[in-house]
Formats: sequence, structure tokens, C-alpha cells
Amino acid sequence: MSASAEAGRIEIDGKLFNPYSKDFIRSPWATWEKLALEYPVAWHKDLQMWVVSSHDALLDMLKDNRFSTSYKHWEHAPPAKPFEQQNHFERAIDAGLFVVDPKAHLRLRKLTMPAFSKPVMGKIDAKIRDLVVTCFDEIGTPEQFDAYAMIATKLPVRSIARMVGVPTNMEDFFHDFAVSVVKSTRINLPQKEREKSMQESLAGFQYFLDLIRERRALPHPGDDFIGSLISASDDGDRLTDYQIVAVIQAVIVAGSDTATDLHTYAIKGLLGNPQQYALLRERPELMENAIIELLRVGAFGKTPQFRFVSEDLDWRGQHFRKGQSVLLNLTAGWVDPQKWENPLQLDITRRLDGNIVFGAGAHFCIGTYLVRVQGGLMIQELMKRFPDAELLDGDGHLEYDYNHHNARRINRLIVKTNAVAQRKAA
Ligand code: HEM
Repeated sequence: MSASAEAGRIEIDGKLFNPYSKDFIRSPWATWEKLALEYPVAWHKDLQMWVVSSHDALLDMLKDNRFSTSYKHWEHAPPAKPFEQQNHFERAIDAGLFVVDPKAHLRLRKLTMPAFSKPVMGKIDAKIRDLVVTCFDEIGTPEQFDAYAMIATKLPVRSIARMVGVPTNMEDFFHDFAVSVVKSTRINLPQKEREKSMQESLAGFQYFLDLIRERRALPHPGDDFIGSLISASDDGDRLTDYQIVAVIQAVIVAGSDTATDLHTYAIKGLLGNPQQYALLRERPELMENAIIELLRVGAFGKTPQFRFVSEDLDWRGQHFRKGQSVLLNLTAGWVDPQKWENPLQLDITRRLDGNIVFGAGAHFCIGTYLVRVQGGLMIQELMKRFPDAELLDGDGHLEYDYNHHNARRINRLIVKTNAVAQRKAA
């Protein structure tokens, strides 16, 4: 603990915790443990932000509205633009789940509930099963394949397209739209590049705004995802066109990068732990638990989420000033030894009560159904086609994309299928 200009402030620096360093990305475990045990709430002198790292403190902060998800509370936020001067991307961001105030957020969650309810989401399984099967058909039965290139880059955006109800002939268009939306939110990209991506995304927003208007004009807007968002009503209160495209934008931003990591880390976790892989084949009913456990142990986030302090306040013995930012170091909490026994050991039978893999409180992940279906179908197919698979040479020749903006992104993971030996044995 160092002496501080602000009396009593607990401080850390880049020597203790540098989420962008290669060493940390490869092996964050010891740093996370130190943070969770010794510096659960600390001011990072180099990053100039608070860092919250223990399970317990994270859970409290996730449930506390004074720590806002909206960048508008940040002292360095760009000046607000009037609605008339904003483009579609900016209007959708400002109408979205992360930016509106807590009351408006509650209203949005209520009105979006039907679109994420079982009757609508239940149909996703059938809609993305063939995507997963085709993805594995394309892999075939080689000696080895790269799970990042062949699975993790292919399923996430296409799954969201199916969830949103994009017609098959528009899937490539949707893919480009999703890529530009995601790039536009990457704070580590040069401003010029972000501006270019934002411009490229505008055609996609226009497509959805036109589609929504066409569907509104029909006697019944339909009972699919977009139809449910159009008809959702709370005493006559309904979502506007921009609030609907904001939901589509939110699921792209929050659901495509995360699902890319879901696939690689699930495969790494299972094939790196052959007994657990065998156990899941024997007991497929453990799938849902296994997916959460694989995400927890994989802990793919390097700078997982942020909050902005909306008012001066004292919290856990520290003084937070309005406008400061906070790194919610969720992945440190996922493997906090104060919460989990043998936190780094994958145990798909583990009781996961109280986990914060999908957050907690008002902003709890809206996409858990899609995660279960997409992850579950992928793992089922992997187990069916390659029951004897392992990671090539034990580590799958794993490589990271060290420049990824917020994830410990694996961008190479070679699976040795053992499919030929399996056929010979049969
Ligand atoms: C694959 C693994 C995933 C993980 C680990 C994950 C985790 C999370 C977490 C921790 C939050 C809370 C963020 C916060 O409080 O700041 C969140 C929110 C959210 N997630 Fe996920 N997510 C995943 C996949 C998805 C998918 C596939 C979708 C889209 C279908 C999605 C859509 C969202 C949305 C829209 C929110 C914001 C909800 C709100 O602000 O009310 N997520 N997610």
C-alpha cells in the first residue's frame, strides 16, 4: 500500500497490475489473487481509475446504481450532441441499455422482456442447430483444425442474426454491420478508424429502421424477436424505433465478442481436462452448469466492464469522486479464492450459486439463453464428432491477440481430432 495524495486512499500501479501486458494476458492468476485478497478496492495511479477485484466487492458494486454504466457520467466524456446532429449509431447508443438512467433502464428491460422470453427464445434452438451442424460439416474429419478460425469466428454473429430474425440472404450484410458496430465501440482504436466504422454501420441501422417501420404498418407485427419488441406494451407505453435498434445494437456489442471467447475457452477447458470432457459425455445433463464453469475458470476478460461514479460518495472505506471511472475486474472475482474452493480447477459439477459470470443486479446479462443454446449445441457436436479430441501437443499451440481491446482473446487453438484412430478402432 503506498502513501497517497488523497488521505487514506489505497493505491496500486502498473507494476502490480497491467492488464495490457503480455505476461498478464498469458497468466493473470497470481495478479488477480493478489488484487482480490490485498487490494479489493484500489485506485490505479497509472490507469487513473478505480479497480474493484474481489467477488464480494464486485457483487455489491454491480447492485449499486450510483456506479453508472453510462459513459455520460465520466469526467472525460465527449460533449453531448443534440439529437438532430446525431447519426443512427449515436442515437441508438444514447437510447441503449448501458446509457439511459436507471428508471429508463428498468422500463427498457421490462419492455424487452417478451422478446427474450421462452416462447420467442425457445425457437432459437431450432434456428441455430443447422448453423452448428454446418460449421462442423465444414470442418470435416481432418487430423487437426483451428477452433478459433473454424468455430469461434463463425458461430457468434450468425447466431445473433438468427436470433434477431435476419433473412438468410441478408446474413453477410448483417455480419458486416455487426463488425462495424463492434469496432465503433472499441475505445483503443484510433478515432479516425472508429469514425469510419461508425459511418459503415449506418446502412445497417437504416435497414433495421426501415424493417421496423414496415412491420409496424402490418396488422400484426409478428411473434418473432423484432415483432415482440414492436408489440411490447406496458399500459400503452411502447418502444420507439431507436429503442428497438438500440436493443439490436446492444446484443451485437455484448453478444458477439463474448461468444467468440465462449467457444475457444470452452474447447480449451474441456480438452485440457480430459476427465471433465469424458464426464460431460457421460452426463449431458450437466451442460448448463458446465458452460458457466468453463466461462468462470477460463476468465477471458482482461478489462471486463466499467462504471462511472455518478455522485461523490464513500464506499468500502474509500472516497469516490463524481466523474471518476471504475474497472469492474469481474474475471478476478470469478476466480477469487475467498469465494471459490480451488478456484482454478475446472469442476463441471461445482455448485455455482452466487456466481457473477453474467453479472448481477439491474444489468444482469440479457443473453444467457443464447449462450446456453449456442454453447450447448457447439459442445454437443464436438463431443459427438470428436469424442477423443485433445489439444495439439497439450496446449493447442495457443496464441493470444494481445491487442484485443478488452479480452484475453485466444486467436489460435489447434484441436487434434484423433478421428482417424477412432475410425480404425471402430
Ligand atoms: C458468452 C458469454 C457472455 C458473458 C460471460 C456475458 C456476461 C455479461 C455480463 C457480466 C453482463 C453485465 C454487464 C454489466 O453489469 O456491466 C452482461 C450484460 C449484457 N449481456 Fe451478456 N454475456 C455473454 C453473452 C451475451 C450474449 C450472447 C448476448 C446477446 C444475445 C448478451 C447480451 C447482453 C446485454 C444486452 C447486456 C446488457 C444488459 C443491460 O445492460 O441491461 N450477452 N453480459
